[in-house]
Amino acid sequence: MEVVCIGAGYVGGPTMAVMAKMCPKDRFTVVDVDANRIDAWNSDRLPIYEPGLDEIVTMCRGRNLFFSADVPAAIRKADIVFVSVNTPTKLYGEGAFFASDMKYYEQTARDILAYADSDKIVVEKSTVPVRTAATMSRILCSGKQKHNFVVLSNPEFMAEGTAVQDLCAPDRVLIGGDDTPAAQSAVNRLAGLYSQWVPANRVLKASVWSSELSKLASNAMLAQRVSSVNSLAALCEASGADVTEVSKAVGMDGRIGPRFLEAGIGFGGSCFTKDILNLVYLCRHYGLENEAEYWHQVVKMNARQRERFVSRIVAAMFNTLSGKRVALFGLAFKSDTGDTRDSPAITIAEGLVREQAEVVIHDPKASSAGIPGVSFVQTPYEAAAWAHAVLLLTNWKEYVELDYARIFDSMQKPAFLFDGRNLLDHHKLHAMGFNVYPVGKPALEHF
Ligand SMILES: NC(=O)c1ccc[n+]([C@@H]2O[C@H](COP(=O)([O-])OP(=O)(O)OC[C@H]3O[C@@H](n4cnc5c(N)ncnc54)[C@H](O)[C@@H]3O)[C@@H](O)[C@H]2O)c1
Repeated sequence: MEVVCIGAGYVGGPTMAVMAKMCPKDRFTVVDVDANRIDAWNSDRLPIYEPGLDEIVTMCRGRNLFFSADVPAAIRKADIVFVSVNTPTKLYGEGAFFASDMKYYEQTARDILAYADSDKIVVEKSTVPVRTAATMSRILCSGKQKHNFVVLSNPEFMAEGTAVQDLCAPDRVLIGGDDTPAAQSAVNRLAGLYSQWVPANRVLKASVWSSELSKLASNAMLAQRVSSVNSLAALCEASGADVTEVSKAVGMDGRIGPRFLEAGIGFGGSCFTKDILNLVYLCRHYGLENEAEYWHQVVKMNARQRERFVSRIVAAMFNTLSGKRVALFGLAFKSDTGDTRDSPAITIAEGLVREQAEVVIHDPKASSAGIPGVSFVQTPYEAAAWAHAVLLLTNWKEYVELDYARIFDSMQKPAFLFDGRNLLDHHKLHAMGFNVYPVGKPALEHF
């Protein structure tokens, strides 16, 4: 089978690489309008970092995995066309700051229509508003040549940082298709591809609309847990309770479970905020104002958590950061990725710059912030040297293993440490001499 994926980003690249590994008899071509990105996929320095990805690309590239900027040629030869282009929040016009900007997505439908010279199964991999498949089908059916196009929904649930692991052993694969014989036959063909490595009981079939909405719903519910626990963290800081103890007690309830209950500086990445805003937009579109407001609060709480973190730093450091060196440990929105899209660390860095702090950043993979006036260094020790404060902002494992006694010795005194991920041993750091500020717990100060 000839499989093509339009969009060689964080989803398209890893998804097709894992499929190529798992389905050695099928051919996978990933195409993109960004020729530089394609060149990077064809080089020794892949455009994205994911643990385990380099090995799979090296194994499959040139065998049954190809990266190309020739979109028309790839579409022509494909049996199945996955679409995994970006669907960012719209920043202009109708629905601005809530709706998804579907211009890139719609363009792919027009490209498929323009270049297809045979029947195609078109698969929505991107996260899209519910009923996008109807738009896609209308465009695909508007041509003079009457090829058959079936549009399926197959949202991607992988998470950055664990993409390869998630794709190799997914919790579930969701395939949405219409109730027509042609659509059901396409669903079975796509399911057949996955059956080469995913157990049958993990492949769910649903209607197209349910499948599209399930992706938005999953992200909204994950993010909602994070905002819920962060709202409790604020209450813990005010009341003297400890959010880690609260989360543990809550999470041990089998009905709730422990995951996504860690308090911190909130969620980030390219998906959660945009997908919830899209959900808010859809609720409003269907006249569901209360439901829209409910989900909007999840995003507002997340923004508030970032502001609260900066305010706590300013208050703890004698109400001025002006001219003070502040070291940021981490910039990526989570560990094991270099992705900084909507990273809480960026908003926090911007807040510190507004306070006139001298911001110095270390991250093992991310090397640009797009913020004027901040600088990057090669090691966390360099960042911390002569700093007034250290902020742990990304949950990279290597930050837990640092020599904090050495860091303390190199800093200005009093030395402040703000643990935005509650990763470190706070009592040990306090005993070393740090003033320690975790999230959702009492501060450990020396006065
Ligand atoms: N990043 C994630 O963790 C993740 C997880 C699940 C789902 N998603 C969803 O998957 C989609 C893609 O996300 P991403 O993070 O891979 O985005 P991305 O920005 O990394 O990649 C998208 C790629 O599509 C290309 N593109 C845009 N229009 C094109 C066109 N007409 N023809 C060819 N290429 C085109 C862009 O150049 C870009 O390289 C989004 O809808 C996102 O919400 C993302």
